[in-house]
Amino acid sequence: MDHHHVLIAVDGSRNSMRAVEYAGEVFATHPEARLVLFHILPVISRVLLDKEEIKAVNARKVERPDLAGLYWRLEDEDKMSEFFAKAQDVLEKAGMKQEQIKSKFRVKTGEIPDAILEEIALGNYKTLILGRRGLSRVREFFLGSVSTKVVREARGCAVCVVE
Ligand SMILES: Nc1ncnc2c1ncn2[C@@H]1O[C@H](COP(=O)(O)OP(=O)(O)OP(=O)(O)O)[C@@H](O)[C@H]1O
Ligand SMILES: [Mg+2]
Repeated sequence: MDHHHVLIAVDGSRNSMRAVEYAGEVFATHPEARLVLFHILPVISRVLLDKEEIKAVNARKVERPDLAGLYWRLEDEDKMSEFFAKAQDVLEKAGMKQEQIKSKFRVKTGEIPDAILEEIALGNYKTLILGRRGLSRVREFFLGSVSTKVVREARGCAVCVVE
């Protein structure tokens, strides 16, 4: 059976949790679905971290050559892991199997939308799911800046913007 790879972009917001819930509803009945929860963490300068943090971040990079030279806040990573765990739970409660779900993060070196577009280009995804808006409190625009750019520029997969 060919797998249907689904990328779910999450930023920790209630909106992106709704994207997760939607994915669970739609794909729970699809045994061929493979879901990837994807988050982009903000990069920070090494000089803003203390020794312990630098050590801890470096320890995470052993199996991630793509993160070489990059630093991020452990606090941000912990928040993300917590969100991933909640999302995993939501998906399993919807009926998805543990082995259908993965989570993955990148550390932002350019723009967030570009990191999502890059993941789509490399990952053989059939569907991308994201929230219409995210964490920002500004309500001025119908779509956020990330969803705007991703919707406009994504190629080769269906894009699903969740309300
Ligand atoms: N850092 C991120 N990592 C992964 N996905 C993200 C990230 N930021 C946003 N997204 C995805 O994009 C969706 C829309 O968020 P977006 O950032 O465009 O809106 P916003 O936060 O309301 O506005 P803005 O950030 O432009 O001020 C989110 O629900 C999420 O699915
Ligand atoms: Mg945002």
